[in-house]
Amino acid sequence: MSSLIKGFSKLSREEKIETLTQTYSLPEDFSERLAHYRHPSQQELFDDFSENTLSNFYLPFGVAPNFKIDDRWYVVPMVVEESSVVAAASRAAAFWAQNGGFKTTIHGTLKKGQIWFKWNGPITQIQKHIDTLKAILLKAVKPITENMEKRGGGVEAISIIPLEQKTSLYQLEVLFETADSMGANFINSCLEEMKNPLQDFFQSQETLKQHGHIDIIMAILSNYTTGCLVTAAVECPVSALKPFAADLSSEQFAEKFKLAVDIARLDPSRAVTHNKGIFNGTDAVVIATGNDFRAVEAAGHAWAAKDGQYRSLSQCHITDDKIFRLELTLPLALGTVGGLTRLHPLAKLAIEMLGNPSARELMSIAASAGLANNFSAVASLVTTGIQKGHMKLHLSNLLKTENASPEETAAAEQYFSNKTVSAKAVKDFLMHFRQQNKS
Ligand code: MEV
Repeated sequence: MSSLIKGFSKLSREEKIETLTQTYSLPEDFSERLAHYRHPSQQELFDDFSENTLSNFYLPFGVAPNFKIDDRWYVVPMVVEESSVVAAASRAAAFWAQNGGFKTTIHGTLKKGQIWFKWNGPITQIQKHIDTLKAILLKAVKPITENMEKRGGGVEAISIIPLEQKTSLYQLEVLFETADSMGANFINSCLEEMKNPLQDFFQSQETLKQHGHIDIIMAILSNYTTGCLVTAAVECPVSALKPFAADLSSEQFAEKFKLAVDIARLDPSRAVTHNKGIFNGTDAVVIATGNDFRAVEAAGHAWAAKDGQYRSLSQCHITDDKIFRLELTLPLALGTVGGLTRLHPLAKLAIEMLGNPSARELMSIAASAGLANNFSAVASLVTTGIQKGHMKLHLSNLLKTENASPEETAAAEQYFSNKTVSAKAVKDFLMHFRQQNKS
């Protein structure tokens, strides 16, 4: 029977495992299985990335070559567990490399932090003091911002904004430039450092004090990083789309593709799946480079719902002179220094593979990977469906599970080229094949 474990985090790894085995009903070989996936020489490094680490969770580190983004060539690292995502990205990358490549625009790289407070006075009173307050707050964070300023970053703007619905709630909004780092720690440190001077300032000014006490509620960055927007786009003559059109003409394919994207703009249920297909590519790059995929996802989905309805993040256009264009705009706050980006050996390798890009360049790469996956997914959906591609990989996994030999694998691939793949069908096929080929 389970019971509350006290002081768990203070125990050694061995003690943790021992305590867990005594407290919960766990597999008998719990400890051995965990040990099996520990790193022989660098485990201490991985242990320190989190708390209560018992082992490592492996995910495939794959690559999609042939990405041409803003006229530069990349082999894009992708960490993703879903079969076919890397294949889909690679196929789209190779196609678009021969059709102009991905073109991107960075609309900004500002990040936002908020100090929320409760105060009963009017905004007009605070506005009178805003310049003095800004100077005090900037001075207070100078020891933290000094280094960032040398790298071209720092605090870019400070303003006070009332929360519309509740007039006694305000935010001190601070905009930051964080150069090539994602900057979460830097932003949060600055905000926390500003709390006391903000409070002291309100208490020291008679015109503010007369409206009562200021109560600081919290200080935290905003993951709604709309200051870090990136657009990635591809375009080509409709006639060039033939390799993806299957049995359709290029024109029919382009029209159907556009309708599919339009549906995702109009219907939230479809939009969520459509955007999930975009994040298949974007998240894979975000994870491979040691960035925060939860932050990127949260911002992306909020952006998708910015006009009150959740919509597709990408848009498709076909011009009168038959140019097909697919474009994607989303917020992507990424870093190429700091955090896990250079600490995790494979994140470091991923960043080096990309040629040590700036944070802006990484935004372009991650957005292009998202667009590549979106293009491949929708292209499959409006032609053959996605299961054909998925099932090929599924078949390969099932054959591996059944320990199929190379000869059996080749025969199975041929046999299932026009049949439905299932675990049972593969087992049956192998049984017959093995019986027939018994020597
Ligand atoms: C599967 O991981 C992603 C797709 O469902 C995306 C989409 O439907 O556009 C294929």
